[in-house]
Amino acid sequence: MNIVFFLDEKKREIEKLLNGKKAIAAVSGGVDSTVAAKIVGDVLGERLLVIYIDTGLMRLDETKNVEGILKKLNLNFKILDASEEFISSLNNVIDPEQKRKIIGHKFIEILEREAFSFGAEYLIQGTIAPDWIESGGGLRDKIKSHHNVGGLPENMKIKIYEPLRDLYKDEVRELAQHFGIPHDRQPFPGPGLAVRIIGEVNKEKLTILKKATKILEDKVFNYKMKPWQYFVVLLNDRSTGVHGDQRVYGYTVAIRIVESIDGMTANFMKVDWEFLDEVSREITNKIPEINRVVYDITDKPPATIEWE
Ligand code: XMP
Repeated sequence: MNIVFFLDEKKREIEKLLNGKKAIAAVSGGVDSTVAAKIVGDVLGERLLVIYIDTGLMRLDETKNVEGILKKLNLNFKILDASEEFISSLNNVIDPEQKRKIIGHKFIEILEREAFSFGAEYLIQGTIAPDWIESGGGLRDKIKSHHNVGGLPENMKIKIYEPLRDLYKDEVRELAQHFGIPHDRQPFPGPGLAVRIIGEVNKEKLTILKKATKILEDKVFNYKMKPWQYFVVLLNDRSTGVHGDQRVYGYTVAIRIVESIDGMTANFMKVDWEFLDEVSREITNKIPEINRVVYDITDKPPATIEWE
């Protein structure tokens, strides 16, 4: 991709579409939304308000990291803590698509509120080609309603602008590198850890999953192989284990580590047994609620990358 040519074309598109108007951009901390906000922010300046919503469904320290990145990018931004609102809206919800929809609607509700008080006419989204292709954009059957596409309500008052709509992940990463945005960050789904907790989401499960995720991430950081995506899934079923001389009935987590080019297909990574052994021991030693760790050895297809 010719970056100079692409950015020049986008600049003209943005100037024409958003002539004198204000916009807000929701960033998730991921590469896509940050690049989209930066491209628009560089043209609109103070007329773009970048918002990061802390849903409580993010990884440990995510909010702090995102704040650091946004400061460096010189964008007009705001951090909003909406974790209570999000977590309570997921009470008793177990269906994955319903989780996505509820989270998507909550995002939009909050963004519309913010857009109204800022006077924004447009919402900038970091949708990329695989998001809408997989959300039933015409090329494929609907697989999952990615929150930044399928979860949007039909009666939305705000208009959407998606500057990265035609790009694939590798192209967005090139742009990120150009802007000095950390581009080796692994993709993270919009609905966050909610789709990595099978069954009902609650604070206790979130705390457990955040700790386990951090352990895996630190281990992968120091590992010789560099996966496309790696995460922990907290299962709904419990199983028997032993802690000291006590029988316990604890949680099982699944480790998912995959290689991929663009997320459309993926292969599970053939990591060393020693590596998995270390991950499993550290998780079960440090998190007493977890007494069983399994490794997901399924490709996409037939599985998807996320479990929900
Ligand atoms: P799947 O699980 O469909 O995921 O194989 C493909 C890629 O998309 C990410 N993903 C999502 N991203 N909202 C997002 O923004 C979502 O609802 C969502 N679901 C999956 C997934 O992490 C992988 O990189």
